[in-house]
Amino acid sequence: MSFDLSTEEVIVGRTESDIKKYGKKGTGFLAKVVMSSGENPVLGRKILVDLAKPHVVLICGKRGGGKSYSMSVFVEGFAQLPPEIRTRMAVLVIDTVGIFWSMKMPNTEEANSLYDWGLQPEGMGNLRVLVPMGKYDFYKKNNLPVDGAFNIKTADVSAMEWLSMFHLSWSDIESAIILEAIEKAQVTFGSYYGLPEIYSVIDSLETYNLENRLSLKNRFKLADSWGIFSKEGSPIVDIAKPGFVTVIDVSTYGQVLGMENVREIIVAILGKRLFEERELERKKEEITLIEGGEKKSDMPMIWMLIDEAHMFMPKDRSSMALDVLLEWVRVGRQPGLSLLLATQRPERLHPDAISQCDLFISMRLTAKMDIDSVGALRPSYLHEDMDKYYATLPRDKGYALILDDNSEKLWMVKIRPRTTWDAGKTASAFKK
Ligand SMILES: Nc1ncnc2c1ncn2[C@@H]1O[C@H](COP(=O)(O)OP(=O)(O)OP(=O)(O)O)[C@@H](O)[C@H]1O
Ligand SMILES: [Mg+2]
Repeated sequence: MSFDLSTEEVIVGRTESDIKKYGKKGTGFLAKVVMSSGENPVLGRKILVDLAKPHVVLICGKRGGGKSYSMSVFVEGFAQLPPEIRTRMAVLVIDTVGIFWSMKMPNTEEANSLYDWGLQPEGMGNLRVLVPMGKYDFYKKNNLPVDGAFNIKTADVSAMEWLSMFHLSWSDIESAIILEAIEKAQVTFGSYYGLPEIYSVIDSLETYNLENRLSLKNRFKLADSWGIFSKEGSPIVDIAKPGFVTVIDVSTYGQVLGMENVREIIVAILGKRLFEERELERKKEEITLIEGGEKKSDMPMIWMLIDEAHMFMPKDRSSMALDVLLEWVRVGRQPGLSLLLATQRPERLHPDAISQCDLFISMRLTAKMDIDSVGALRPSYLHEDMDKYYATLPRDKGYALILDDNSEKLWMVKIRPRTTWDAGKTASAFKK
């Protein structure tokens, strides 16, 4: 890699022609270019990242390497966009660990380092934290900073999704009951039914024996205890609110075995609803254009940021969220859907999420299998294999490689310090 002595800002994620057209409008400050070798390198040009057009961004790196931290730097970039751009996008953060709420607070702890970067501690005013409806009181009682609750419309969950959620297979008698029950619920209630209506439909299917029906009802009762299903469902504009970063906190389902399904269904339903919504909007926009009008939409862009992405898009097991997210990855550009995925195990991530990303950001990786899995990315404009570049990456936190397909360049960078408080710090037994 050669070192570049220019002082002009670099824009990643944006093509040359878009840079000519838009300059640095709609970008966020992400990093600075590493200008020398060694463990404490000189930093140079600022790296700005395009946030205004659809992208698939993949952030990789080993445990504690700075992935969640870098995601927060992205999030801050959205918050700092001028209102005329910010209000035309909605940003959704799927928070599996429960660490993004602290972005409301300023990062006073790293004030000195921020000043060195020409920045200052600053909390985000336009960040909302939503928790599952049934967990809202718990959060409030414990004085945890939440802004509202979300829930999912029961009728949005297909019979097949209920089967996967309950780990049922085709040979289980309960599966047959579910198929029939959901069909009957749809005929009887249209798309307006909740779990009580499902119970009553199951009760009415008297051709099945009572024991099987009771066992199935118990499964649905367990689903009720997750506190996310309702007849109405949160309107999608309440979840993906234009101009705001909305954190969907699913961390309460984090630790319990079997609960991965709950997180998956939340992402699957949100992903599906957002996709449909945007497809419809795009069609309306095109019709207005054809009729000679001006392209107008309140929310032309949606960004979904998913930490621990291998949980939702695994390579070697099924996940309810996988198909939906693959659709975002493959055809999300047209309806204006962007994904930012972070994972410590690229080797476990679905290969399409790796091969289709147009912006690849990687902190150090040490496991050979992980390096090999991203090695498949090696585009023709790279002169060396990825492991050669990893070998020269400084070991300190925040150093990363950025592979940008839009400009066909590779950069070695240091991610900037965040202006918002970091609640994801590594635990330690020391008091300070
Ligand atoms: N660019 C950076 N500048 C300064 N400190 C950083 C930077 N990136 C990471 N750190 C430090 O490293 C810690 C760990 O980072 P982070 O939580 O983002 O790791 P991670 O890659 O998400 O790890 P995990 O895989 O365990 O989730 C942060 O809390 C922070 O203290
Ligand atoms: Mg993390």
